[in-house]
Amino acid sequence: MSFIEIANLYKYYGTEQNRVIALENINLNIEEGEFVVILGSSGAGKTTFLNILGGMDRLSEGTFSVGGEKLENLNNKQLSAFRRNKIGFVFQFYNLMPNLTALENVRLAESVSSNAIDSRDALDMVGLKDRMNNFPAQLSGGEQQRVSIARAVVKNPSLLLCDEPTGALDSKTGISVLKMLRKINREQNKTTVIVTHNSSIAEIATRVVRIQDGKIVSNTVNVAPKSVEELVW
Ligand SMILES: Nc1ncnc2c1ncn2[C@@H]1O[C@H](COP(=O)(O)OP(=O)(O)OP(=O)(O)O)[C@@H](O)[C@H]1O
Ligand SMILES: [Mg+2]
Repeated sequence: MSFIEIANLYKYYGTEQNRVIALENINLNIEEGEFVVILGSSGAGKTTFLNILGGMDRLSEGTFSVGGEKLENLNNKQLSAFRRNKIGFVFQFYNLMPNLTALENVRLAESVSSNAIDSRDALDMVGLKDRMNNFPAQLSGGEQQRVSIARAVVKNPSLLLCDEPTGALDSKTGISVLKMLRKINREQNKTTVIVTHNSSIAEIATRVVRIQDGKIVSNTVNVAPKSVEELVW
């Protein structure tokens, strides 16, 4: 059994007469510890897919399990616990609370998860221990994204999901953020899924999945992924 198993997954939006098919017959297995990049152009269904993986949205049809837990069977309360304890999410625009310091932002996530690590250790992991008392507005974009990575990993999640994590950053800063994500993936064997329209990022993935119009058009294992240092875009 794979860590993530998705079979015949569909996601519809809208009413029956006015239906938007956002995901169509998705079949995908992901093993524990993989570093997966999902590529697709705007509107392909990337965010929809990631939100379903993270328990933030529900599928319309099909089956889907993470670590043997069948997500489609969970009620809202169980799904909320799944999000709190199992999922670390990194967003394109960081989504930090502006009136809380870096440490307080991470602590907020620490406080809701049942198997959290120490917030200071999480900030240390992303190289920001000496900036923990700064507010988001006092940090650069790259530093804010590192705080948001700390906020995701502090929960000690089994799955790290990233929606365009470098989308708001210049390439140099983006690459340093990817380096951090790959390091956490390697050292902690944390299964990581990144969705992006930046095809360069696929070169460092262990698996590359392409989505087009809500459908998987290719799914390939990268036997020799590039190191992040070799990336350019
Ligand atoms: N809540 C919603 N209601 C109706 N349609 C939606 C909703 N959310 C997404 N869609 C539609 O589903 C499709 C997939 O959207 P999604 O946001 O997943 O794309 P994406 O690949 O993340 O695009 P982008 O790169 O622009 O972020 C689009 O056609 C979108 O308009
Ligand atoms: Mg999106």
